[in-house]
Amino acid sequence: MLIDVITIFPEFFQGPLDVGMMQRAREKGLLQVRLWQLRDFTRDRHRTVDDTPYGGGAGMVMKPEPLVEALEAVRAQGPPGRAILLTPQGRVMDQAWAQERAKEERLILLCGRYEGVDERVRAFVDEELSVGDYVLTGGEYAALIVIDAVTRLVPGVLGSSASPVEESFSDGLLEYPQYTRPPVFRGMEVPQVLTTGNHQEIARWRRRQALYRTWQRRPDLLAQASLTPEERALVERWREAQGPSQEKGNGSEG
Ligand code: ADE
Repeated sequence: MLIDVITIFPEFFQGPLDVGMMQRAREKGLLQVRLWQLRDFTRDRHRTVDDTPYGGGAGMVMKPEPLVEALEAVRAQGPPGRAILLTPQGRVMDQAWAQERAKEERLILLCGRYEGVDERVRAFVDEELSVGDYVLTGGEYAALIVIDAVTRLVPGVLGSSASPVEESFSDGLLEYPQYTRPPVFRGMEVPQVLTTGNHQEIARWRRRQALYRTWQRRPDLLAQASLTPEERALVERWREAQGPSQEKGNGSEG
């Protein structure tokens, strides 16, 4: 996976790229990140990337020429790639999006800054992406999240110890509860089923827990999750048991 990042802060990325999963992916040749200084694509003495907004108002707007010229120059260097503008106005990223993009050969990330980006830049990108419904100081933070979420799904990056297929969200559900030693911590015991070695029972319990947890915490995810008819019926029973006015989480998940 080749990821080009166009930014006024290339140095922002160096720390994260040099640790953990991203570093290993780069060493294995599974990830290459190229950082481009947006100011290198300006033509004036001051290397200006922003200007005051037409119509007035507070703040600055990123000028279209440096961004679009940078995108065109970067695009020309390498295989075809998807250009993604990071902006709180984009579609909100989720795991399914990351899985699709992990199949691409190349991504080009454009980091916006200041109060916004000149509207005309939108015509030159393939998509606009937000990493969540909150406002960051700049697209750099969002770009790091994208690089992390996508890279770990590139085959070979995580190795055999972690399985992205089994994890939270990949089947549309939250993760089941996890435990490690000690068996009793401050009076709280590890659920007995996990200590039996009965893998079928453990798998059943985990699936049930994932389903219950999702229903309790993120019921909005259930509409899109892949559930069997039995599981849908189970959720329906929980709903009925809960009643219209009661709180959720009465422990009836078994
Ligand atoms: N830039 C500022 N806020 C952002 C967000 N939530 N997602 C993507 N880019 C951003």
